[in-house]
Amino acid sequence: MAQQVAATPPMGWNSWNHFAEKVSDPVVRAAADALVSSGMRDAGYVYVNIDDAWQGKRDEKGFMQPNEKFPDMKALAGYVHAKGLKLGIYSSPGPKTCAGFEGSYGHEEQDAQTYAAWGIDYLKYDLCSLGEALLKQPPEVAFQTMVSAYMKMFAALQKTGRPIVFSLCQYGVAAVWRWGPDVGGNLWRTTGDINDTYDHMAEIGFGQAGLAKYAKPGHWNDPDMLEVGNGGMKPDEYRTHMSLWAILAAPLLAGNDLSKMTPETLAMLTNREVIAIDQDAAGMQGDRFWAEGPYEIWVKPLGDGSKAVGLFNRADPWSGDAPIKVKFKDLGFTGPVKVRDVWNAKDLGTMEEYTGVVPGHGVVLLRVK
Ligand code: GAL
Repeated sequence: MAQQVAATPPMGWNSWNHFAEKVSDPVVRAAADALVSSGMRDAGYVYVNIDDAWQGKRDEKGFMQPNEKFPDMKALAGYVHAKGLKLGIYSSPGPKTCAGFEGSYGHEEQDAQTYAAWGIDYLKYDLCSLGEALLKQPPEVAFQTMVSAYMKMFAALQKTGRPIVFSLCQYGVAAVWRWGPDVGGNLWRTTGDINDTYDHMAEIGFGQAGLAKYAKPGHWNDPDMLEVGNGGMKPDEYRTHMSLWAILAAPLLAGNDLSKMTPETLAMLTNREVIAIDQDAAGMQGDRFWAEGPYEIWVKPLGDGSKAVGLFNRADPWSGDAPIKVKFKDLGFTGPVKVRDVWNAKDLGTMEEYTGVVPGHGVVLLRVK
């Protein structure tokens, strides 16, 4: 039996959202350094994931070589491991990756062996060019082709004997949450790419309603990486992003430049109580509990019997603060409960209902027991 990986949603950093094709060995080392010096590692962020654009050409025997920006992958893995971190990499089941680099098609076993030999701990496997091929096949055939491609890489990874987190990326097509675990997925993207705007982040995050039952330890829905600290959203909006991802038991993969982050960004990413909601060992994803126009309440059950409750106001900020009321008996509590305001780190007292005053695009995140 392969060792259990991703018992809780993976946490770490990924190069794509900020660096895209500018990723390099020094960028990855700097991210690893910053994870340690900032305290993020100790808050749980341990995966350092290289996304697309590390690949060079295959050698004459077909083994993959990194490009000139990555002179020595094994040495890089050694550097990352020595800091108590883990290294992730990226490929595609198709012949080309989304950025046009060499994919793993026809070289799955060789690539898995190469990753294991380098000391890789996490693989994001992105459909990319295989998706184009699928469009030319009848739907049932296309589905089988896609499933087989993911199974093939999973088998190859298992054969290496190294525990490697397997991250499926095919943008949620064909309800991947229903079959992701069967092809070995520890996590699977449920949507297209996030970007650093409230509207798109909210469309993705609030669009996760109904998927909670598919998440469990070792197998997680992945609404994509974090944009916190990339500059496109206001603090209230980034708090919504973090709160929602925590309620969703989503992977927390920071996507900003860690070597240049502000204290506010760091505080938001490392808020221990928010992380505890995300990483709760029971592994129960939260879901939408109530919605009325732009006001929504999301609830995540936690292992100690308490619940995380997010009061979200999706209305435009110009519309001002909105009162959002939650009655705790509706959430299954009998009698008054102890309520804590998570972002303000403040115990609010014991009560039967609470009305949060929530700014537009903002959130009040409660932990209730
Ligand atoms: C996309 C993927 C992104 C990123 C990008 C790299 O398909 O969803 O997260 O990996 O490819 O080219």
